[in-house]
Amino acid sequence: MTTDSRPDARKRILTGVRPTGSLHLGHYVGALENWIRLQREYECFFLIADFQVSDHADDISQVRGNVLEVATDWLAVGLDPEGSHFQIESLVPQHAELTTWLSWWVPLGMLQRNPTLKAEMGNLEGDSVPVAFFNYPMMQASNILMPKAHLVPVGEDQLPHIELTREIARRFNRIFKTDLFPEPEALLGRVARLVGVDGNAKMSKSLNNAIYLKDDADTVTKKVRGMFTDPTRLRATDPGHVEGNPVFMYHDAFNPNVEEVDDLKARYVTGTVGDVEVKQKLAIALNNFLDPIRERRAYYEAHPREVLDALAAGTAHANKVADETMRQVRDAMGLNYLA
Ligand code: TRP
Repeated sequence: MTTDSRPDARKRILTGVRPTGSLHLGHYVGALENWIRLQREYECFFLIADFQVSDHADDISQVRGNVLEVATDWLAVGLDPEGSHFQIESLVPQHAELTTWLSWWVPLGMLQRNPTLKAEMGNLEGDSVPVAFFNYPMMQASNILMPKAHLVPVGEDQLPHIELTREIARRFNRIFKTDLFPEPEALLGRVARLVGVDGNAKMSKSLNNAIYLKDDADTVTKKVRGMFTDPTRLRATDPGHVEGNPVFMYHDAFNPNVEEVDDLKARYVTGTVGDVEVKQKLAIALNNFLDPIRERRAYYEAHPREVLDALAAGTAHANKVADETMRQVRDAMGLNYLA
């Protein structure tokens, strides 16, 4: 039996990021854009996953700044902390509690086969992988199950973790004959995975190929000027390739002037426009797109108290929701010892 005494009848979203630094264009088209679009339709829980940065174990002094950086970026892109709940994961310690219970039903092999985990682990030998690293997909499942979220808007690399969450929800519900946890759906962004400025398959801080939401206009223009383009094209008069060309992928993703983009493409394939012009127009489009974000960011940089207030209010609410869920979890397991 589950009773849901919540005042807000909207379905719920839980999603989040790890606090590893500033957010970039890949985050925007991969996820943030959906969050912004859906924030009124759903009751949203936006989580900063500071339990999940064990890769920062050697420089933990950066975590605090990164948490504030993420919250500032969120406010800058237009997430509204009045209608949704910004939360810091470790200040809702029920996440650790739920992870401990749920890990009873997650075989180690399931984590070892997780393709995202495998890729992130790279060449690390088993001996040097922190236990917390293996824990993180389970922690993520707890994040999602805690508010019983229905929808998880994320980038493509997160799909294995959502699948794991669905599996855990099914197992828990089956074992305890309950319908406590809905099976959450993933929602991918318009561009599930944005290429980096170097043409690498993924824009990422660690690959040093990102354009950040907080980059100023000159920085963006410089990065665009140095972008990887069609490597087979030596002169502006050579016919070029639009398909698979990062500069055009960005035009498609960020330049709202479709006519201009179509014209550039047509001239590119016939060798009647140079990379310089295509890149100049892209830099302009990107800077137009980023300008309002920069403006809002400047406001919050000048009012850091508002950033902290947003985090405090959302975290307090998340705590209440988590208490209720944990009570239901213990009821379902028959472990409400003292009740
Ligand atoms: N693992 C996600 C990432 O690396 C961040 C994350 C943590 C998350 N908890 C989550 C995403 C819950 C969606 C739902 O980006």
